[in-house]
Amino acid sequence: MDLSVLTSPAEFGVFRGSEAAVDRLEDFYRRFGFVILRDLFPVDLVDRMETECAAAQNGVLAGTVPERYGSTQYLDDETKIEKFVNYVEHVEEIAPAVREAATYPELVTVIRRFIGENCWLSDENRIGVVYQDARPGKESGYTRIGWHSDWQASPSLDIWPSVAFTFHLDGTSPANGFLRVVPGSHRWATPAPYRNVNNVTVPDDARSTGGYTDTPPPFPMALGFEKIPGEIPVYTERGDIILHDAYLWHSAARATDDAAVRRHVRSGYFNGDREKYANRYQFLKNAAR
Ligand SMILES: [Fe+2]
Repeated sequence: MDLSVLTSPAEFGVFRGSEAAVDRLEDFYRRFGFVILRDLFPVDLVDRMETECAAAQNGVLAGTVPERYGSTQYLDDETKIEKFVNYVEHVEEIAPAVREAATYPELVTVIRRFIGENCWLSDENRIGVVYQDARPGKESGYTRIGWHSDWQASPSLDIWPSVAFTFHLDGTSPANGFLRVVPGSHRWATPAPYRNVNNVTVPDDARSTGGYTDTPPPFPMALGFEKIPGEIPVYTERGDIILHDAYLWHSAARATDDAAVRRHVRSGYFNGDREKYANRYQFLKNAAR
């Protein structure tokens, strides 16, 4: 057994800025389906993202930015956008630091290494980049999300493989919520969600499975928040970037501290024919409650 990845639990999957180009990073990603990039973004870039995203969020709530930026598509109760804004879509258009981060050369180099030179950032024809503010308070329409792979959201589009990124403006913990992943699950042939908790209809032309091998998962994907054998928490520090494969099984745990906040910027790079799927981004809702 190769023990080189087993440095310490705290460092499992963590790669510092200067290590971003090393083979070990790619080996880890191929094997486990995710990595954490630490100290890649300059501190001032993270600070600017925070300031600009907060302004965009306030703009949506106050109605001072166009409706296009406010999103209800992931909310558990769409009326809640009148009280609180959990999401700002296309935030890169009104937050220059977000565009700078999403196209940061060292980051793009790593992503190209994972999924190919011709990959492209989710753009204006799709959801673009999303600012996400999760909190457990009553006004919030997003507190956690159930097990899924991102591929399952659009199983009939030929835009895979894909790498999802999250830029963490808050470090994560059980107190404010955190990502749960099943390392290696990106290699399983995961079925499209023909059964899902929100009873969303899966398109007829959906691929039946998504993953890097034809090996079926050893057990069905849980529909909600159940414990999955082999799952681990992925905790972050402020400024960390999580990259995970679109075939990876993941979910997000709800915060235990009612006053806690978890904010990040997220989107992804995709493959395939960019123009063919312009304006066609499916979203099969996952278990948000
Ligand atoms: Fe996801």
